[in-house]
Amino acid sequence: MSRLAEKSIILGVTGGIAAYKTCDLTRQLIQAGACVRVVMTRAATSFVAPLTFQALSGNPVHLDLLDTEEESAMGHISLARWADLVLIAPATADFIAKLRLGLAGELLGAICLAAEVPIVLAPAMNRAMWSNPATQENVASLSARGVRLLGPADGAQACGESGLGRMMEPTDLCRAVEEFFADKTLDGHSVLVSAGPTREPIDPVRYLTNRSSGKMGYALAQAAINAGAKVTLVSGPVFLAPPKEATLVNVETAADMFEVVTGLAPQHDIYIGTAAVADYTPAAVAEGKIKKHHEALDIRLTRTRDILAAVARLPKKPFTVGFAAETDHLESYAREKLERKGLDMVAANRVGQSQGGFDSDENALWVVWPGGELQLPMASKQQIATQLIELISDNYRAKNST
Ligand code: CTP
Repeated sequence: MSRLAEKSIILGVTGGIAAYKTCDLTRQLIQAGACVRVVMTRAATSFVAPLTFQALSGNPVHLDLLDTEEESAMGHISLARWADLVLIAPATADFIAKLRLGLAGELLGAICLAAEVPIVLAPAMNRAMWSNPATQENVASLSARGVRLLGPADGAQACGESGLGRMMEPTDLCRAVEEFFADKTLDGHSVLVSAGPTREPIDPVRYLTNRSSGKMGYALAQAAINAGAKVTLVSGPVFLAPPKEATLVNVETAADMFEVVTGLAPQHDIYIGTAAVADYTPAAVAEGKIKKHHEALDIRLTRTRDILAAVARLPKKPFTVGFAAETDHLESYAREKLERKGLDMVAANRVGQSQGGFDSDENALWVVWPGGELQLPMASKQQIATQLIELISDNYRAKNST
């Protein structure tokens, strides 16, 4: 059953062209089982007719603060009390500024001021309006007060420009909203995640690396945050935006990652090693750029230290979860790794296939732990991450209760 089943959501629509995408968002929230009441600002009605939202949500659309009929039926206070969550999509620069000031001249502003439930914004505006210090200050101030932000996304904009400012796609918004209702199984716990590749320098301009995108590790960091954990993310070089609530530590080489992770691990309850750490590094880094004087070039490599095994050997060892990338014999290799490295859990994924694994948006995992195993079938990395975090927290609690 979807986590949105029977959840009461106020969907605030403000005056931006992205309001047309909110029609699809309404449909998706309803399909997931949520009960949606749409509240529109006057400007929003220039983009989409209230009747459209009424038909999609199956509820009357709320427009005016001072509509006596509507006020008596369900005024701003009743609406604020009815909701489990207030989602504003699109949230324009103007509405964000008003929200920061606590202006309540329109119904939606009054609801936000009266709301004691989470408020989530999906900003949508021109890229320059988004990056303007006025908007950035407003957003920072609202975040500090606990207002949550989803997006904005990067890409082509209705004004013809391109950049950060697009509203997130309805499917992504719907999934992210669902995450707000995730069980907070890791409340009060800390999780350390390593992610991405490492870079092993050969000379000042070249390095050895691998095909890891970091997507699985970043999705796990977000899923752990959604489950209530305090998350530290140790990341090799990737092209991803980190979860806003995570403490990010950027590293480059396997040696850097070893130092940072083994230093931080004893202060965390759980360590999840998703990083694709280089197994070998050049024995020496050339001081100057290596010139192509010879037909062949030999580079001597030495083994890097195993971070995961080192964490599992720490006197104050966190619950330790490793990853394994295998082309075959998934389960037996995973179990062998679990025992050899003294781990609490291993999540193995098949690589070298068209679906899943490195650089893909999807993954399937075979998870093993002492005395148990579970297969997580192919799904988006976000969905797999949510399932794996649930499994980790179940096993973590089971281990600590014995
Ligand atoms: N890992 C690590 N430090 C290394 C190498 C790997 O912490 N120097 C971690 C990875 O983050 C991952 C797991 O170990 O969690 C992968 O285990 P590993 O034994 O390296 O797996 P493979 O690369 O699949 O090894 P092999 O194929 O050689 O068994």
